[in-house]
Amino acid sequence: MTERLGMHTLTEGRGLLFGGDYNPEQWPEEVWAEDAELMRAAGVNLVTVGVFSWARLEPEPGRHDFGWLDRVLDLMAANGIAVDLATPTASPPPWLGHRWPETLPVDEGGHRLWYGSRNQFCPSSPVYRERALAIAGALADRYAGHPALALWHVGNELGEVCHCDVSAEAFRGWLRARYGDLGTLNEAWGTTFWSQGYGDWAEVLPPRRAPYIVNPSQRLDWWRFSSDALLGHFRAERDVLRERTPGIPVTTNFMGFFKRADYWSFAAQEDVVANDWYPEPGDPLSPARTALTHDLMRGLAGGRPWMLMEQSTSAVNWRPHNLPKPPGQFRLESLQAVARGADGLCYFQWRASRFGAERFHAAMVPHAGADTRLHAEVRAHGQELRGLAGLAGEPVPARVAMVFGWENWWALEERGRPSDRLNAVDQLLAYYVPFFERGVSVDVVPPSADLSSYALVVVPNLFLVADEDARALSAYVRGGGVLVVGPFSGVVDPRGHVRTGPFPAPLREVLGAAGEEWLPAPDDRPVRCRWSGGAEFTASTWTELLRAEGAEVVAEFTEGDLAGRPAVTRHRAGNDGVAWYVGTMPEPAALGALAARVLADAGVEGAVPDLPPGVEAVRRGEVLFLLNHGATTVRVPVQDAAEDLLTGTPAREAVTLAPRAVAALRRRP
Ligand code: GAL
Ligand code: ZN
Repeated sequence: MTERLGMHTLTEGRGLLFGGDYNPEQWPEEVWAEDAELMRAAGVNLVTVGVFSWARLEPEPGRHDFGWLDRVLDLMAANGIAVDLATPTASPPPWLGHRWPETLPVDEGGHRLWYGSRNQFCPSSPVYRERALAIAGALADRYAGHPALALWHVGNELGEVCHCDVSAEAFRGWLRARYGDLGTLNEAWGTTFWSQGYGDWAEVLPPRRAPYIVNPSQRLDWWRFSSDALLGHFRAERDVLRERTPGIPVTTNFMGFFKRADYWSFAAQEDVVANDWYPEPGDPLSPARTALTHDLMRGLAGGRPWMLMEQSTSAVNWRPHNLPKPPGQFRLESLQAVARGADGLCYFQWRASRFGAERFHAAMVPHAGADTRLHAEVRAHGQELRGLAGLAGEPVPARVAMVFGWENWWALEERGRPSDRLNAVDQLLAYYVPFFERGVSVDVVPPSADLSSYALVVVPNLFLVADEDARALSAYVRGGGVLVVGPFSGVVDPRGHVRTGPFPAPLREVLGAAGEEWLPAPDDRPVRCRWSGGAEFTASTWTELLRAEGAEVVAEFTEGDLAGRPAVTRHRAGNDGVAWYVGTMPEPAALGALAARVLADAGVEGAVPDLPPGVEAVRRGEVLFLLNHGATTVRVPVQDAAEDLLTGTPAREAVTLAPRAVAALRRRP
């Protein structure tokens, strides 16, 4: 058997990858030579080429113009820069939509979306598929064996959905495969409700704009189908590439917590997990949100390294008001990704565009040129990453897992629920923050994960849960694990049908608690609660009418109709197992107190005791990263004598970190 392809295929002999999207087709060839020179000076060792080049590569159906790309790849090879070659299928040329309008996507309201931008394709269109595979195959034939070719980049940020007739037919095919016959489909969708019974497959449609709330089970299957349609397209391109260039890994770039594509299923089909990530400079939760997203990528990669395919050196152009990054900020963010398992640190894009929709997006070489503050930082960062080459392939050990699944995300956020204030990613982030603040590493795992290696498993929400996943969570506790479950969990089965009996039905036994009513709270009224030790806290938005059935009541509501009723419970189950249930949304400080208690139950500690606020601490391999996201200079105590890999200086007892400063401390033997 050949060794599995992965990040290591790329980092071997190169160390950490550094570079960005390179779009030389936007520039005259004289500029290319300067590009190559600047790239070398900056330590660039990987560029993504050809993402939006379809119209240049195939100006009319079947006629190829590869000459310019030959010269780009040769230039990169001559300069020792590897190429992540994209199939250009994210942006079909106008001729495709002009000649075959059925390849253009149709939205929920039945409107076709046109060319003139990008991403205008129907994932289920056989014509689009044929043309996409043809250009992918032609590229692979042309560049198989080219010394620059190191990685394949399929399309870009796969995320289109389409409601057209072709997609409707594909949806029916997908449903037939899932349910077999219409009777089973009718049952799964609960079509006795509102007279929705289907008598003929031809009547079955994607959810289209309708007068009122659309059937949530139909919509849940639509989410599943749409994700599978994109995955099907990814796999088709991947297979064409693999067949022609078996030694070259294949990836596509993710978009963090992106709802339309179930990345657990994508990650299983690719060689390298890659993400595009653009933290909002003005959002105080950005450091934690970013850390969580990186941890998701590491989870998607099965704990192995992943790469940041795109980030920005400064402002993006697609928010309404685009705050720049202050000096030192992109370096801080890049090193944050390294700390959390990234072996590739790439940017969108190399040279700022002069024209087009992204003229005002920051780049590695700004409009003002290379003799600039920003480019000097790019260069310095590229150089310093060489000093971290030894980190490539190193793991980020974690004893805490947080469960996150796309099916649950889709199911939870359908219309017609008790409250639209409880959302999957916000809820995950709320639970993640206190661990982040304590320097506790967390793996993000799917609901079906093997949990046996974790001391603590946190399930911020699992509204939709499959029987077998609920059983696995219970077994995890019985086997000695510590489990925390957030509100409105265990509510529906994979069809979206409510599980009857006290909730969370399939977890009731292990939690030793049972509920009978979900009670969203008025937005403007915090709910008062008290820990059993006496300290008070507030919760908001969501409460539940619960009773303990063997669990200890750790916190209770103290006012209104719920006064004296459990808000948080803790149940000893099995040998040393402990299962917590949280039937409300505690304020951040209370979630912090909860995190401290469950960490104590699990015997897990943070990387650094008493971490100052604003500082992130995370261990990767033998290196402890300390990153100051705060606005003040801090002193962080360190236990062992260490050397800072970034400065080469020794650290004893403590390190001092200015705002945006980073230390990468390797223990001294
Ligand atoms: C990404 C995309 C890039 C570029 C970038 C701008 O979503 O993949 O092509 O548009 O955003 O931030
Ligand atoms: Zn379609």
